[in-house]
Amino acid sequence: MPETDDSSNEIKEFCLDIPAKNSPFFLKGSNALDWGMQNRLARIFSPSSGRTVMLAIDHGYFQGPTSGLERVDVNIVPLAPYADALMLTRGILRTTIPPSTPGGIVLRASGGPSILKELSNEQIAVDIEDAVRLNVAAMAVQVFIGGEYETQSVHNMTRLVDLGNRHGIPILGVTAVGKNMTRDARYFRLACRICAELGAHLVKTYYIPEGFETVTASCPVPVVMAGGKKLPELEALRMAYRAVSEGAAGVDMGRNIFQSNAPAAMIQAVRKVVHEQATPEEAFDLFQSLKAETEALAK
Ligand code: R5P
Repeated sequence: MPETDDSSNEIKEFCLDIPAKNSPFFLKGSNALDWGMQNRLARIFSPSSGRTVMLAIDHGYFQGPTSGLERVDVNIVPLAPYADALMLTRGILRTTIPPSTPGGIVLRASGGPSILKELSNEQIAVDIEDAVRLNVAAMAVQVFIGGEYETQSVHNMTRLVDLGNRHGIPILGVTAVGKNMTRDARYFRLACRICAELGAHLVKTYYIPEGFETVTASCPVPVVMAGGKKLPELEALRMAYRAVSEGAAGVDMGRNIFQSNAPAAMIQAVRKVVHEQATPEEAFDLFQSLKAETEALAK
């Protein structure tokens, strides 16, 4: 216990001319959330740009060792310092990710079927106590609007939202697209809005070239763009640029980063677009120069 001050000599400064600050939280739709929830969101989104570059490496939960994720320790751990958050399963987190890794952890919390079965037949796959134990920044759940197990997947999300609200852990609703579904603005407005209406604190969805701004505008919580299949780097940077210009609060990209032939260069180029509003061409220049440096060092 510290020594008590001698109150007769105390000098106090109450700064009576400075009003107490009452700043709104920086993320859309998140102002009414409790401190712990906001603090966790600030581990995912940069408070200075209001955006995130999340690195998605959770593909193994339904498709095994995807190309680029065969050895997470070798290929992904060196990228982690460039990511604002990692999206992954608890298995990879516990076995392979150093606990000193900076940035938030977005824990994959639904699963069940593999690529050999009906993918929408997911259930909640993590206990909330384990998420608390792992000190995660959010939990992610796949929502299959229009899918065979639509209602079940929505209920997975709403149950996680209730648990997340109880424990201060935000829930990321991930809009999954079934094999036969049209990927258009009408579908993604529907899917994102359902996630937000039913309590998701943030939503992840795909970019579409027509009307993406109506998807972000009609979703009252932050929307992050999913990467999708591997594209040439400049195209992927253009997609990220358009997404953030059209209202996305960042990206959650996987294959377009870890399947690049220079993943560290690519994630830094994506950061340039997302956090510094660089044009895709400027970011691609950075990609090429970082890639050349890495290649020179390897010689
Ligand atoms: C898929 O269900 C997972 O949520 C992936 O994290 C997601 O698809 C993002 O990865 P990618 O950018 O490779 O599409």
